[in-house]
Amino acid sequence: MGTLAAPPGGAPAGVQVIQPARRLRGQLDVPGDKSISHRALMLALLASGESRIHGAGDGADVRSTAGIVRAFGASAERVDDDGRTVGYRVVSPGVDGIREPSGVLDCGNSGTSLRLFAGILAGLPMTAVLDGDASLRRRPVARIIEPLRAMGATLRALDGDTLPPVTVTGHDRLRPIDWTSPVPSAQVKSAILFAGLRATGMTRVRESVATRDHSERMLRARGVSVRSLPDGEGGAVIEIEGGTTVQAMEERIPGDPSAAAFWLVAAAIHSDAELVIRNVGVNPTRRAVIDLLTRMGARIEERPAAGGADVGEPVADLVVRTSELGAIDVSPAEVAAAIDEIPILCLAASQARGRSTIRGAGELRHKESDRLTGIIAGLSALGAKLEVDGDDIVVHGPTPLLGAPADSLDDHRLAMTFAVAGLVASGRTTVGRPSSAAISYPGFFTDLERIRA
Ligand code: S3P
Repeated sequence: MGTLAAPPGGAPAGVQVIQPARRLRGQLDVPGDKSISHRALMLALLASGESRIHGAGDGADVRSTAGIVRAFGASAERVDDDGRTVGYRVVSPGVDGIREPSGVLDCGNSGTSLRLFAGILAGLPMTAVLDGDASLRRRPVARIIEPLRAMGATLRALDGDTLPPVTVTGHDRLRPIDWTSPVPSAQVKSAILFAGLRATGMTRVRESVATRDHSERMLRARGVSVRSLPDGEGGAVIEIEGGTTVQAMEERIPGDPSAAAFWLVAAAIHSDAELVIRNVGVNPTRRAVIDLLTRMGARIEERPAAGGADVGEPVADLVVRTSELGAIDVSPAEVAAAIDEIPILCLAASQARGRSTIRGAGELRHKESDRLTGIIAGLSALGAKLEVDGDDIVVHGPTPLLGAPADSLDDHRLAMTFAVAGLVASGRTTVGRPSSAAISYPGFFTDLERIRA
């Protein structure tokens, strides 16, 4: 493997060369769940006293959130918690002692930081500006501005209040709302729930598809009354009672299933593979990728995890072996449940027998890059046969992959997808702008080289 990593400071990124692998073997520990790590830091800011977070994700996105926690006046010290993973020790004055930030809050590449902090700021009597990198500045924010305004906060954004930076002036006595989000989004739901902590009464969020429920679980674990009522049609109504204090706590974060997904697909599509991924979160609202791959014929076994997590999140060790995959039809509701795993699922579909359809994937246009365009361009360059039809992706498989250049568009999930494709390609693959992998998985390329047997 040769590499020309990006020099510090965001100068032109290089390429990562991936040679095909003859065999894949090994045990992997993926980073701590990114969604849970963000929320753990944010809730530690809202709680007075000391919170300890073990096994946090150490990607650039989580670091952006930690930087913002500090800008609000709490300390967030990174600690090497067991010699293997990083953790945080956060000491906060609590929600009523938070100070107004003196500068712009830099969310970097992280949509979760921007949207969830907007919800927190809506309930604070101060003004602050949330901004980020060029990618984040292209991502929609009207979806959070509308409900937070309805709760009584003042928000402004560029381009007719649709794009970051977002300026928020909050109040500590917000109005409770009953909100139906037009897009199934855990970020929108979480922003409203965090603002709901400061509302006088019960705030409700209705979602047509149940999205990741980490905020609900974590708020409950910290003493806040949150109810989740399934609507019987795959959606849910979530209710939060305002005015409760968030308690500080100590917790261990499970491995990120969205990171594990790369290794599940790598082993399933490789002709000689067996991988064990330890301590992966298998929360019902995050495990869709495991279930979809299993439906395609992937040989994935779940074993009780030795390490365990303790934030009320189920975890398992996952064993995955070389598999014969068949095509799949993924519904719009399943796309919402596996939203971050669609790029790697497209790679799996390119190696599966038959015509796969991934329906209602339009939301992928609004991720760290336009992922619909990026997946088609990168996987087509590698020899896969796939196309976009409206908001649907159609993949014809199996197609042998060639080694070729594939550009990540500076999007971490595309960089990792194309690198995994390179393991099964017949020649040399060069992943363009590979340093984006460090947004969620800084050790990704090291792990990829380690599992070559
Ligand atoms: C996230 C929710 C999802 C997901 C993102 C993380 C979260 O975004 O794509 O990577 O932590 O709540 P949306 O809420 O926009 O679907």
